[in-house]
Amino acid sequence: MKKVNISCPGKLMLFGDHAVVHNRHCLVTAVDQRLTVTIEKSSDEGITLTAPDVGLNNFAFSLADSDSPDFPKVAKFVAQSISNFSKRHSFSMGLRVSTRSEFGATFGFGSSSAVTVATLKALDEVFETHLSNEDIFQLGYQTVIDIQGVGSGFDLASAIWGNTILFATGGKEIVPLGVSSLPIVVGYTGVKADTATLVKQVNKLKQQYPAFVESVFDQIESIVLEAKPLIVEQEWAEVGQYMNFQQGLLESLGVGSPQLSSLIFAARHAGAFGAKLSGAGGGDCMITVVDDDHRKAVETAIIQAGGTVLSVNLSAPGLKVQSDND
Ligand code: PMV
Repeated sequence: MKKVNISCPGKLMLFGDHAVVHNRHCLVTAVDQRLTVTIEKSSDEGITLTAPDVGLNNFAFSLADSDSPDFPKVAKFVAQSISNFSKRHSFSMGLRVSTRSEFGATFGFGSSSAVTVATLKALDEVFETHLSNEDIFQLGYQTVIDIQGVGSGFDLASAIWGNTILFATGGKEIVPLGVSSLPIVVGYTGVKADTATLVKQVNKLKQQYPAFVESVFDQIESIVLEAKPLIVEQEWAEVGQYMNFQQGLLESLGVGSPQLSSLIFAARHAGAFGAKLSGAGGGDCMITVVDDDHRKAVETAIIQAGGTVLSVNLSAPGLKVQSDND
């Protein structure tokens, strides 16, 4: 029976964090650590999921089960993706699904979005429904909103298109920059942050201080639009300066953390062009732009400040399809 493997990259937000949830743009780059979903039709009824990275082995479920609070997170995204796909293209047979991940969920590289996109694309291949990348994006965005209630969808776009892209909320604009690599070092704080909680926290701040928070979003937006050509032209000192500006703005939204600050200041003092948090904040990762002469010193400084340097290549390829008929 036809068996399909789809792999998707992880992602890192370069510029536009939080503001992109509120109708602005962001710049996101794909990370070369990949998550693979394999799907085959099965003659048994129902769905089974094997996800060794999260300890699931032949976990059997029906789509109706996924609302239960103790349903495993990865299975939630797989189940909701299957449910949204089946509303568009109904099918009646069972499915065997398995996932394999090169990145731990801890680093915040976007395992939920990668598993969602890879599941939808695998279903598209198995049932030969010829969905476009835009269709996959819309089904994926629906899936994420169904589960998390909030989010811009930038991580789904990165899982699909890869590379480094300019993205507008809900996928209204998706423009690849066409850059092949970025001189960026990634530091992990060791603190896992919950994206939905931080997005809701910023929403609340916006309700309390609408004029101030909107003006911060506008400034973040102008940084995104100015940073885009600077990245294409490889003006790294300027890109670093804009990272520093953006970090100040994100701090004003209350999404910084002591661990993020100590890694960011350590990188700057060791000669980086600039540094900022990446993503929702509150922990997870920081990024810093460096030249070759300072890379080693910056990496050492991040480790001495208590962080972990994640060696990843950026601007990685988007989703990849591999089918075997066995
Ligand atoms: O925490 P991450 O890496 O998933 O990034 C979240 C980025 C936000 O802008 C805060 C949310 C979003 O969906 O765009």
